[in-house]
Amino acid sequence: MGHLLLRNRSLKRLLSIGKKTDEEHPKPTGDVSPQRKLAWRCFSYREISQATGDFNQDNLVGRGGYAEVYKGILLADRRAIAVKRLNPAALTDGKREKEFLTELGTVSHVSHPNVSRLLGCCVENGLHLIFELSSTGSVSSNLHDESKPIMTWKQRFNIAVGTARGLQYLHKGCQRRIIHRDIKASNVLLTDHFEPQISDFGLARWLPSEWSHHAIAPIEGTFGCLAPEYYTHGIVDEKTDVFAFGVFLLEVISGKKPVDRSHKSLLSWAKPYLNDGSIQAMVDPRIGDDYDLDQLKRLTFVASLCIRASASWRPTMTEVLELLEGTGEISPNRWQMPEAEQEEEEFWDFYDLDDDSNSPSSSSSSNRSIGKYLSH
Ligand SMILES: Nc1ncnc2c1ncn2[C@@H]1O[C@H](COP(=O)(O)OP(=O)(O)O)[C@@H](O)[C@H]1O
Ligand SMILES: [Mg+2]
Repeated sequence: MGHLLLRNRSLKRLLSIGKKTDEEHPKPTGDVSPQRKLAWRCFSYREISQATGDFNQDNLVGRGGYAEVYKGILLADRRAIAVKRLNPAALTDGKREKEFLTELGTVSHVSHPNVSRLLGCCVENGLHLIFELSSTGSVSSNLHDESKPIMTWKQRFNIAVGTARGLQYLHKGCQRRIIHRDIKASNVLLTDHFEPQISDFGLARWLPSEWSHHAIAPIEGTFGCLAPEYYTHGIVDEKTDVFAFGVFLLEVISGKKPVDRSHKSLLSWAKPYLNDGSIQAMVDPRIGDDYDLDQLKRLTFVASLCIRASASWRPTMTEVLELLEGTGEISPNRWQMPEAEQEEEEFWDFYDLDDDSNSPSSSSSSNRSIGKYLSH
């Protein structure tokens, strides 16, 4: 009952904002200006059911913890869409429903070429979010799916910069600060031109401008990508995303997962290379020598700053972009930490998971609960 009330109230509020009628709804323009017009509408169940072939399994393009995503073509204008449908079982779970509505509430207010574009929602026969289709799948599937072509260095560097732009927009470019809380390769989707788009705002939070940070419980996110202050104290701010972005960069460079099959963390693998400067050994062996050394230096330098244990010594996304897009020499001195801070940094150690008994309670692809991976 409680969750039904929640749905009614939340939906009323949400549906009164940003909604456009069919006629007003703009046709796709290929617009790449940073601030695109906000517009979304309510779809009928009939429309999305027709588009996806009645949610035919052949059209299933992704599955997260509590939702399935189907591709489809709208009958009216032949537009390619992705329909994210909350699993029927999750409909009785108020928390999942709230997460779903959070996603609608957040993503309906954002508009940037590097953020997934919401087209609308459908609240008949369940809860559905309708997005523009990112036809190339996620960065994760392109990195790890052996049936897909190996991503080139150029594509990887563009993905790093584009994702940084999208995240900088969420932190600084929106009317309200948005902390995504689940930045990872499976939540960054790719257009057919390999342009990255940040998606999955189920855990996102708006942060009032006067708050320096926010303490959140329970701690949710993805194992292997969580910042120490969040992991230990539930503290969330922009730097939580910056940390996860650092792990994302390591994954894009190396082609390794944040936690591999033997439960080794990417962070503990990468630290020795970053510390002794042997960065060329970090490059995904599948791309051989076909990479740009200056870009590699930038990516690894930025990654090493982003994954600092001390949040205040991590860069902001604006600084990340300056470093990634800069053309001059990087000046490490500017980012040098005082000795006491460095010692503190070394005190933190990234642990790998020992075995299944220690692993997080959920090890699904959309892992939203965490276990031990870090100790102080
Ligand atoms: N707009 C989209 N276009 C193409 N595939 C998508 C789209 N949105 C989601 N997907 C696919 O579905 C998967 C799960 O979607 P996501 O929003 O991350 O759900 P969850 O919240 O359950 O993790 C993604 O990893 C991706 O593969
Ligand atoms: Mg996801």
